[in-house]
Amino acid sequence: MVFNQQEQNGDPKNLATTPPRPTRVSGSYIIEQNMGSHRDPVHIIFSMKDGSKAGSLADALKIFKDYNINLFRIESRSSKRYESDYEFLVECSAQAIGLAVALDELKKQTQYIQVISRDKANEETVPWFPRKIKDLDRFANHILSYGSELDADHPGFKDQVYRERRSYFGELAMKYKHGQPIPRVEYTEQEIGTWSIVFRELIKLYPTHACKEHNHIFPLMIENCGYSETNIPQLEDVSNFLKDCTGFTLRPTAGLLSSRDFLAGLAFRVFHCTQYIRHHSKPMYTPEPDICHELLGHAPLFADPSFARFSQEIGLASLGAPDEYIEKLATCYWFTVEFGLCKQDNQLKAYGAGLLSSFGELEYCLSGKPEIKNFDPNQTSEQQYPITEFQPIYYLAESFDDAQKKLREFAFSIPRPFTVHYNPYTSNIEIIDSKTQLEHLGRDIENEMQILVESIKKINTLV
Ligand SMILES: [Fe+2]
Repeated sequence: MVFNQQEQNGDPKNLATTPPRPTRVSGSYIIEQNMGSHRDPVHIIFSMKDGSKAGSLADALKIFKDYNINLFRIESRSSKRYESDYEFLVECSAQAIGLAVALDELKKQTQYIQVISRDKANEETVPWFPRKIKDLDRFANHILSYGSELDADHPGFKDQVYRERRSYFGELAMKYKHGQPIPRVEYTEQEIGTWSIVFRELIKLYPTHACKEHNHIFPLMIENCGYSETNIPQLEDVSNFLKDCTGFTLRPTAGLLSSRDFLAGLAFRVFHCTQYIRHHSKPMYTPEPDICHELLGHAPLFADPSFARFSQEIGLASLGAPDEYIEKLATCYWFTVEFGLCKQDNQLKAYGAGLLSSFGELEYCLSGKPEIKNFDPNQTSEQQYPITEFQPIYYLAESFDDAQKKLREFAFSIPRPFTVHYNPYTSNIEIIDSKTQLEHLGRDIENEMQILVESIKKINTLV
């Protein structure tokens, strides 16, 4: 039996030779022939563990469908290796995005699998990445640390009540799906007490140490999101506020995600955010991100349009990037979004969340003691750094716009066979790898340019 990709979702009777036609991929209409190339086919031969069961091919095809991998050819035949079973051959592009992950999934369900490619398929496959915002659900639970699984040196390690509380927050995050309101949490008096200490100390330093954007937005969050010394704001309220300002939203997470997954969220203007609070015994210390770090350090700046653009730029650069570039981008993220400094009115100011949520380091970073270098992604991305002590080196951004420009230039050097574009109307990532896509993008830009020109004319008339 031989049939085309179109039949995966429907009737396999329409065999073989129909030419490629527009198909809906990740919510975007893309000409199918542009999604892959016959120049570098990879052939995958496999038999399923329950190969004699009706529908076993459908199970396998579902994996390719889930990862939006177009198949050029599908064949089945009786297996010579396993009597009474079938084995299947599928053909797709070696550069299909997500092929490596799809193969990992397929391997779990197969008793035999062989991947044959004329080219260096494995080296050249593009890592899977989310194409629509709902895809973030797929890796939300792939966390590197979880709930009550605390290290022995964690301040809350021996506190059973704290550990149960951490499990509670972990479960809330694990159950969360895109589109749902973030569950509201009733924080205990002890938790609010911890928040109060951190809040009280940090706001003393903000007027002199924080960047002007943070100082502009912070009062708005007090006004609109329930920020106060005696109240831990609800993630849902903060998320709604950010959405109104820049389209950024928060998404609860149970623990640390991998750099690749975390950065991918930023591409959609989604910030993965913890909801638990540090242990009360050490209110000025936390070995991992907690709600004080997220809401006092990170959240205010996501309401700033320039900072939001910069953050998204890092996320977009990460999509489908090779592992070594994910590392470089994570390092850039560290020295900007986490520990960045900027110059405003000839004075150094902090904009990194790791600084704005740490009383001690916020004072230290502007003390003249640490070394300060200019942010340049080519060099910054190679910088080594400690994670358990104050930074010996900080990087200085001219402005968020300048940092974004430099990061975009750096992103162009990442070896990817395509360019990505975020469509804010559909919340989808579009792959720009065809003339049709270019035409659509060009038309969108043309529309925006007309609005820009018209607005300039009107404003000039008013002046
Ligand atoms: Fe952070």
